[in-house]
Amino acid sequence: MPMPTQLKTAVVTGASSGIGAVYADRLAARGYNLILVARRADRLAALAQRLSEVHGIAVNTMTADLEKEADLARVEAILAHDERIRVLVNNAGVSKVRPLSKTAVGDSLSQIALNVVALTRLTHAALPAFLSRNEGAIINIASVLAIQYLPVSAVYSGTKAYVLAFTRGLQNEVAKTGVKVQLVLPGVTATEIWTEGVSGVPLAMLNKDTVMTAEDMVDAALAGFDQGELVTWPSVADGDLWTKFDAARAELFAATETGRPAPRYLKP
Ligand SMILES: NC(=O)c1ccc[n+]([C@@H]2O[C@H](COP(=O)([O-])OP(=O)(O)OC[C@H]3O[C@@H](n4cnc5c(N)ncnc54)[C@H](OP(=O)(O)O)[C@@H]3O)[C@@H](O)[C@H]2O)c1
Repeated sequence: MPMPTQLKTAVVTGASSGIGAVYADRLAARGYNLILVARRADRLAALAQRLSEVHGIAVNTMTADLEKEADLARVEAILAHDERIRVLVNNAGVSKVRPLSKTAVGDSLSQIALNVVALTRLTHAALPAFLSRNEGAIINIASVLAIQYLPVSAVYSGTKAYVLAFTRGLQNEVAKTGVKVQLVLPGVTATEIWTEGVSGVPLAMLNKDTVMTAEDMVDAALAGFDQGELVTWPSVADGDLWTKFDAARAELFAATETGRPAPRYLKP
């Protein structure tokens, strides 16, 4: 699918580091003006200066904690009312991978607030404007943990499974419009999310053969976007695996539509 009209504005959440910073760079290279959102103002300002110098585009920064109501509302208002916005990259996310029994409830709620609530609210804010123009793209960053449930990832996997289901439903909703919605499921990517004390697992503890650079991840995801993919698994070589997985899901769903208990649950 072609990127929407060039020389428009893209909003990238979580642009102060990692995957979001690379999206900002790549969208700037495609000629987009940018609105960069995150909490660390200094990081955003440095990135904005570099991207505007290198690519000659306009960059605005919004220092916002997307877990906080007032900040989220400010970003929602921009998405709803700035008519130049054509792309929303819902990238900001947090991961606290540790057993639920050793996780403070606040850490679980924080993951839900950012990975689920903020992503949903920002999509809500952008969608009517995109639909009214019949143009726009929403890129939602999930994770391979959307379909894998580790003993340390109950909440994080849950939040990313939500992103998967939410995005797939939305894709069905907008299928006949000019609005594009892409789901991206990165595997392990070398970013600050793995900083000890943030994710709970330092990157050095992982098999380095499984780790992708953020640049490779974003370039693959954008290649998937350009190829018209709705669902992009940047690290998966065999694209048929997703086709088969999704077909099995559809088959299972169809098998639920019986209106009666399965025979194995009936008394003999
Ligand atoms: N790295 C991986 O292995 C991996 C794998 C699969 C999926 N992902 C997903 O990729 C996305 C980007 O993560 P990353 O790997 O690039 O990690 P990262 O480098 O830690 O980036 C996370 C971004 O989110 C922002 N952020 C965090 N809390 C925020 C808040 N409350 N309000 C606003 N912004 C906030 C951070 O900026 P501030 O701290 O400045 O606010 C930062 O810009 C996330 O959704 C993550 O779940 C990552």
